[in-house]
Amino acid sequence: MKSQVFRGSGLAAAHIVALALLHYGCGAEGDRSHAMQQTDEQPRAAVTRAEFGQLPDGTPVDAFTLTNANGVVVRAITYGGIITSLRVPDRNGQFDDVVLGYDDLAGYLEENPYFGAIIGRYGNRIAGGRFTIDGQTYTLATNNGPNHLHGGVTGFDKVVWQAEPFERGDSVGVVFSYASPDGEEGYPGNLDVRVTYTLTAANELVFDYYAITDKPTPVNLTQHSYFNLAGDGRGDVLGHQLMINADHFTPVDSTLIPNGAIAPVAGTPFDFRSATAIGARIDQDEAQLRNGLGYDHNFVLNRGDSAVTHAAQVYEPRTGRSMDVYTTEPGVQFYSGNFLDGSITGKAGRVYRHRYGFCLETQHFPNSPNQPDFPSTILQPGDEYRSTTTYVFGVRP
Ligand code: BGC
Repeated sequence: MKSQVFRGSGLAAAHIVALALLHYGCGAEGDRSHAMQQTDEQPRAAVTRAEFGQLPDGTPVDAFTLTNANGVVVRAITYGGIITSLRVPDRNGQFDDVVLGYDDLAGYLEENPYFGAIIGRYGNRIAGGRFTIDGQTYTLATNNGPNHLHGGVTGFDKVVWQAEPFERGDSVGVVFSYASPDGEEGYPGNLDVRVTYTLTAANELVFDYYAITDKPTPVNLTQHSYFNLAGDGRGDVLGHQLMINADHFTPVDSTLIPNGAIAPVAGTPFDFRSATAIGARIDQDEAQLRNGLGYDHNFVLNRGDSAVTHAAQVYEPRTGRSMDVYTTEPGVQFYSGNFLDGSITGKAGRVYRHRYGFCLETQHFPNSPNQPDFPSTILQPGDEYRSTTTYVFGVRP
């Protein structure tokens, strides 16, 4: 299988400075031979491209492997922009993959509860699959009970994106772009979308979202990686310590549509303002936890004057791994993997049982197109949709 290496060489390099053709193995192990294992004395950042598979109609799907100088490796594919693996060190320097997923494309095509994918046009739910803009009502697929979820039947998680790798100093990345035609999944307007993944030398994974439209349309893009900082498939996430910087959340009905309230978290199992184990209160007999079958709720982030909020922090005590989430978005959906039930076998034969992964999906609030009091998600022609979220990976002693 052919791969190209686009290698960074520190600050002097403004552009890609090396291009090599390598022969890699296929499938799950295909990204092992990243550039760091070559002859360099100092590991350097690099991005490589390799074939990952083909859709049934023959459309090729490629994988990009981003490596930084610390040995952190992110692999993302052009199908759905899916992050298929993310290898970060623990407190002893042991690397492990901390995201759920599949070994090959067939897994993602067969059944994917949005593992690792870009979500759009509208991340989260739109009640009844309907909204009205300027007096015109639009009807979307109801693919989640009575509601529309994550962009519909063929959302941005199920399309093949164009992709261009880049190197910028000691950061590497890939720009995914997709032209969503007017009427796709029932949404109005041609929407041009660009999502940039950047891996920096500080072990940050940055998502920059950009979109423009030619008709007013709802846009709420997010990233749906399921994390387990103890390592993919290594158990449930209930022992992870979570902080969410939110005084309020948006309570939901039994179909997970917000009831319109912006409710205080104080005195509820939704108070994560101080780090608390995900599992500490998850099984309490409480109405909102019953509706979500656990945590599956949007938190209203406390935003100071700065454009970027420190939204959340997660710490896994056994491995010492931590993850901080920063975002320009007003909300984050914390989903505790409640629908994982052991029916999915993922990478290397690992079975994903109940709550084996969690998601922190930065976003605007669910059902905003039907909630005039929520921050608007309607993108107007002539305006630019811009949003940035950063996951920072670290360790504690
Ligand atoms: C939703 C969950 C859903 C999961 C996978 C999350 O964003 O909030 O309800 O089960 O995605 O589809």
